[in-house]
Amino acid sequence: MRSFTLLALLSILGVFCALSRADDQTTNPLKDNSPNCSCYIINGGNDTAYFKYHRFWDFRSLTPDHLTSDAWNADWSIQSWNTSASSDAPLQRINLVENVGILTSDDSNITALTLNTFRNNSHTQFTAEIQSIQQNIKHASIRFHARVIGRNGSEASKGACAGLFTFADDDNESDIEILTQDPMGTIRYTNQPSLSASGNEIPQSSITSTQLPPVSIFHTHRIDWLAHATHWFLDASLVASSMYSVPRKPSGIFMNLWGDGGVWTGEMAQGGSAVLVVEWVEAVFNTSGPVAGRAEGCEVVCRVDGVREVGWPEVVKTGRSVNHGFKRGMGRERGSSQGRSGKLNSND
Ligand SMILES: *[C@@H]1O[C@H](CO)[C@@H](O)[C@H](O)[C@H]1NC(C)=O
Ligand SMILES: *[C@@H]1O[C@H](CO)[C@@H](O)[C@H](O)[C@H]1NC(C)=O
Ligand SMILES: *[C@@H]1O[C@H](CO)[C@@H](O)[C@H](O)[C@H]1NC(C)=O
Ligand SMILES: *[C@@H]1O[C@H](CO)[C@@H](O)[C@H](O)[C@H]1NC(C)=O
Ligand SMILES: *[C@@H]1O[C@H](CO)[C@@H](O)[C@H](O)[C@H]1NC(C)=O
Ligand SMILES: *[C@@H]1O[C@H](CO)[C@@H](O)[C@H](O)[C@H]1NC(C)=O
Ligand SMILES: *[C@@H]1O[C@H](CO)[C@@H](O)[C@H](O)[C@H]1NC(C)=O
Ligand SMILES: *[C@@H]1O[C@H](CO)[C@@H](O)[C@H](O)[C@H]1NC(C)=O
Repeated sequence: MRSFTLLALLSILGVFCALSRADDQTTNPLKDNSPNCSCYIINGGNDTAYFKYHRFWDFRSLTPDHLTSDAWNADWSIQSWNTSASSDAPLQRINLVENVGILTSDDSNITALTLNTFRNNSHTQFTAEIQSIQQNIKHASIRFHARVIGRNGSEASKGACAGLFTFADDDNESDIEILTQDPMGTIRYTNQPSLSASGNEIPQSSITSTQLPPVSIFHTHRIDWLAHATHWFLDASLVASSMYSVPRKPSGIFMNLWGDGGVWTGEMAQGGSAVLVVEWVEAVFNTSGPVAGRAEGCEVVCRVDGVREVGWPEVVKTGRSVNHGFKRGMGRERGSSQGRSGKLNSND
């Protein structure tokens, strides 16, 4: 699909971007659990929350081989499980590793992570899903800069669901779902379970927001998973809040694009397709247990919103009097250094 020239160009671009990122890191080292930020603050939905960790996954200047790199494998796993067809789900669902890719957009040199789904002339929907390796997240503010389009810049075919969500199990799950059969500008915000044991819809589980800006254009889709509430944002606007079944179990971050021919996703026409395009994901979060190695406390508060460059937190206040419920010295006794990779251990 991609010519040698394009690949060569991309590698050159990749080198330049790597260099400029390295420069950024020396002048502004506040990214990815920087030791200079002892916590991260967010506001929204009447809540102010503090988190201990920050990650920014930037897919805008990558080469396709990134998806086999150690950096990728340390943080994400591409799924290859399948489901069988049933009366509720007439299409078999096959998650293809090759349905996850890094592609350059037609009108710029910016790359993005893409999740594809398509239906051939069979009773199969070929789908895509990735999961974070970090599965002990408990409370987070996660932002996905993403859009849903069709192949070759066309409109997405009806019959797909793009999911941006946290998941532990079917009853501990917080979703942003874009259904391509919905009118443009519709997004579903749900805390699971959305069906009762008898299979009936639980109305308070899900909020359908309509007349939002088109999902075919890049927006920042945000879930704030707090202890008592879930808030969902589109760019800077709060669009939904829920206190129903706010997840309580440590979870991972998931992205998928799928369909099964059932009532929820609809049935994609043969030859149809859709693409979930993700330029970056940013998360501030806590984990389920004490974490080794950080001098805990909240002496240096950093923010992720309203910063000069998205993904690069900035210090908002410093001072020993600031603590925000953080326990000093927590986790220190566990010793080992945390490092910049952000891999965390939990004792849960
Ligand atoms: C990070 O902390 C070190 C040590 O306190 C300080 O010298 C440096 O200027 C800080 N960097 C930023 C970007 O705040
Ligand atoms: C925020 O507070 C205002 C005023 O108390 C209230 O009307 C509104 O529903 C609250 N919003 C959320 C998302 O809790
Ligand atoms: C999923 O289905 C494909 C195509 O039938 C098959 O090649 C693959 O082994 C299956 N994967 C799993 C995990 O069952
Ligand atoms: C993409 O990169 C190529 C090669 O550097 C350049 O010629 C072209 O103008 C760039 N396109 C855009 C939209 O930046
Ligand atoms: C789907 O159909 C296309 C066009 O016939 C073919 O190239 C491709 O291999 C098929 N993909 C799968 C997974 O069957
Ligand atoms: C549309 O995209 C598909 C899959 O990438 C490709 O096989 C096909 O040639 C493209 N069609 C056009 C008209 O560009
Ligand atoms: C989360 O999982 C627990 C244990 O499986 C379950 O009891 C609970 O209902 C689930 N959902 C929430 C919101 O706690
Ligand atoms: C994150 O953890 C810190 C330290 O335990 C705590 O003070 C803070 O309230 C937690 N944030 C959320 C949203 O749970």
